Amino acid sequence: METNINIDQFNTIIKSRRSIYPYQYEKSKRIPGNIIWQILENANRAPNHKQTEPWRFTVFTGDGLKYFSELQAGIYKQYSGNNFNEGRYKKLIEYPLMSSHVIAIGMKRNEACKVPEIEEIEATACAVQNMFLTVTAYGLGSYWTTAGITYFEEAKPYFGLRTDDKLLGFFYIGYIAKPITAVSKRQPVQEKVNWIDASDNEILIKKR
Ligand SMILES: Cc1cc2nc3c(=O)[nH]c(=O)nc-3n(C[C@H](O)[C@H](O)[C@H](O)COP(=O)(O)O)c2cc1C
Repeated sequence: METNINIDQFNTIIKSRRSIYPYQYEKSKRIPGNIIWQILENANRAPNHKQTEPWRFTVFTGDGLKYFSELQAGIYKQYSGNNFNEGRYKKLIEYPLMSSHVIAIGMKRNEACKVPEIEEIEATACAVQNMFLTVTAYGLGSYWTTAGITYFEEAKPYFGLRTDDKLLGFFYIGYIAKPITAVSKRQPVQEKVNWIDASDNEILIKKR
């Protein structure tokens, strides 16, 4: 099928996507709202079983970043118990303040149509990858973290989530201070693929 899409550019976007951390951002420089909305629109295009569209986002920017910084550090301090780590606590305070936007990633269970929970998580992860690739295409930086309060039950209500729902982490976004050119390391895909070609009524398994 003919398309106008430049496949080389598309492959480059996927290959050059990196996790870029808040300390690598231009401190607090704000990305225009229309770009963030495009990132969210693209997240909303993710595949999802039975059209449940389970992804939910809470966006923090401007003064909202200070609110989020205090919120997540406070929840962490109150509920981390013996796992409390001073370094982690500091990062939970500082990272939002270095960023342009932070997006809390939630998965909302659909009451009427219960597809397996894992499929709702999978669909939400597809939405996050759409955000990653859009950020990359704009030349911006982002990373997905599940550290801190992600799996704290007590955190869910602050992001509009209930017991059955899941908080899946936080997506930090910012302008990149110094360009990162190194491609992220991966083992060859051939090591992860079983290729079965049965076109001659004969099954060939090529495992490299
Ligand atoms: C679900 C998920 C959670 C992650 N959580 C963290 C995290 O808490 N802290 C962190 O430094 N990186 C986190 N990462 C980023 C990975 O470390 C990163 O994707 C990996 O090192 C590969 O680097 P790349 O994204 O640049 O290809 C997470 C990635 C995913 C997909």
